Amino acid sequence: MDAVQELFFTGHDTSASSMTNILMFLGRHPEVLQRVREELDSEGLLDCPDEELDMSLNKICKLKYVYSVVREVLRVTSPVGAGYRKALRTFEVGVSKISFFLPHFSLTLHFLYYM
Ligand code: HEM
Repeated sequence: MDAVQELFFTGHDTSASSMTNILMFLGRHPEVLQRVREELDSEGLLDCPDEELDMSLNKICKLKYVYSVVREVLRVTSPVGAGYRKALRTFEVGVSKISFFLPHFSLTLHFLYYM
């Protein structure tokens, strides 16, 4: 059950919230939506019957502007804000001249926005 729950979060919730954010930003920025539509149109992906839709990796890789839009939305509103780790052994962490020991079994939380 733990593994199923993990896949629900890692696979479903991340993708669902990212797609929701992409739609929200496109709604707020009609000029970006227009460029997305132009790029889809130039690749024959707009107003195309479902059975003729080419969603192959080759085709998707041609969508440079769409790719940038997705990356920018993920940068601004990442669905995963932090990561958690447990120290399996005591070890020394050194940042510049500051260093400290992280004891065995410590729980750490790293915020991805600050990395
Ligand atoms: C926008 C979509 C996604 C984002 C932003 C995202 C982000 C991340 C991040 C940041 C991690 C590292 C977590 C950590 O090390 O603590 C991770 C791990 C992982 N992701 Fe994704 N992910 C996305 C989509 C997916 C999808 C679609 C799947 C599977 C169908 C998936 C499966 C996994 C798995 C299995 C892990 C490893 C978890 C672990 O190490 O315990 N992710 N993801």
